[in-house]
Amino acid sequence: MDKYRPVLITGGAGYIGSHAVLAFLEAGYPVVVLDDLSTGHRDAVAGTAVFVEGDAGDPHLVSDLIARHGITAVIHFAGSVVVPESVADPLKYYRNNTCVSRTLIETCIAHGVNRFIFSSTAAVYGMPTVVPVAEDAPTVPINPYGTSKLMTEWMLRDAAAAHDLRYVALRYFNVAGADPQARTGQRAEIATHLIEVATRAALGLLDGMQIFGDDYDTPDGTCIRDYIHVSDLAEAHVLALRHLESGGETAVLNLGNERGFSVREVVETVQRLSGRTFSVTMAPRRAGDPACLVAATARARETLGWRPQRAGLETQIADALRWHRARTAGMQTP
Ligand SMILES: NC(=O)c1ccc[n+]([C@@H]2O[C@H](COP(=O)([O-])OP(=O)(O)OC[C@H]3O[C@@H](n4cnc5c(N)ncnc54)[C@H](O)[C@@H]3O)[C@@H](O)[C@H]2O)c1
Repeated sequence: MDKYRPVLITGGAGYIGSHAVLAFLEAGYPVVVLDDLSTGHRDAVAGTAVFVEGDAGDPHLVSDLIARHGITAVIHFAGSVVVPESVADPLKYYRNNTCVSRTLIETCIAHGVNRFIFSSTAAVYGMPTVVPVAEDAPTVPINPYGTSKLMTEWMLRDAAAAHDLRYVALRYFNVAGADPQARTGQRAEIATHLIEVATRAALGLLDGMQIFGDDYDTPDGTCIRDYIHVSDLAEAHVLALRHLESGGETAVLNLGNERGFSVREVVETVQRLSGRTFSVTMAPRRAGDPACLVAATARARETLGWRPQRAGLETQIADALRWHRARTAGMQTP
C-alpha cells in the first residue's frame, strides 16, 4: 500500500513538472503540487492533483503539507531554469535553486520524509571532454545555473550521509516534446530550447530562428545534442521513486537517449514534419556551447529498468507541434 502514499511535487505547474504530475497520477499516486506560479501555470496541473500556490522554500508551508497529506516522498522540480539569466543574476539562482532546495531538504529530514527525487541537469558537467558523458565524468559547471544545481546535489549527498535520507538525482539532457495527448507542453514566454524555438518558428509564433555556429567539428558543422522526450523523462521519476520505495540505494543518473542530433537535423525535421519553411540565419558560436553533448544512460536503464518509449526525434517534434497547434487553436476559440 505504501506506494500509493501521496507525493509532493514542487514545480508541478511547470513544463516538466506538469508531465510528471500526469505520470504519477497514472501510476496511482495521489499528488500534491506546490508551485509559486513564477513561471508555471495553474491550469497546467491535472485536475485530480491537489494544488497549493506557494514557495517550496517556505518551511512552515511545506511542514504543514507533509503533515496534512501524509507525504512520504518529494519530487523537486521547482527552480529557475534559464542559463543566460543565471549569468546575469546569479544570486537569484543560488537563492531559488540552492537555498530553496536546502530548506526543502531540511524540512523533509525534520519530518521523516526520506525519499527525495531531484531535477538535476547535464549543465553540471560543463564542457565534457569525453562523449557519451557518464555520471562519473568531472562536474565542472560553467554557469551559475549548473553550479546552483551541483550544489544541491552536494547537499543531498552530505545530508544523506548524515541522516535517514535516500535520493535520486536525475541529470536531464535536452528535454523536448509534449504530452502525446496534448494535455500539457512547453509554455515558457521566451523559448530557449532548440526544438521549441524551431517548432514555434514553424507555426509562425516566431519570425524565424538563428543557428549559433556552423564551424564545429561535427559532420555538418552544427552542435550535436541528445534529446529526451518529456514524457519519458516524467516516467523515469516514477521509476526512481519505486526504486527508493523498494529499498534501492541513492543514485545519480543521466537521462538522455545516447543518440545525438545536429541543430541542422532538428531544423530540417521540424520543417519537414510541419510542412513549413521558416527563416534560419547563421550566427556566431555562443560561449560555453560544447560541440557534442550525448548522455551515457546505462546506469539509469540498469538501476531503474527505464526504457524510453519516444526516443525518436520525429516523435518528439510531432508531439511539440501537436501541443502548440492544439494550444493555438484553443486560444482562438471565442
Ligand atoms: N527544461 C529542461 O530542458 C531542463 C533540463 C535540465 C534540468 N531541468 C530542471 O527541471 C526542472 C523543471 O524545469 P522546467 O523546464 O519544467 O521549468 P519551468 O520553469 O517550466 O518549471 C519550474 C516550475 O517551478 C516553479 N517554481 C519556481 N521556483 C519556485 C519556488 N521557489 N517554489 C515553488 N515553485 C517554484 C515555477 O512556477 C514553475 O512552475 C528545473 O529544476 C530545471 O532546472 C530542466
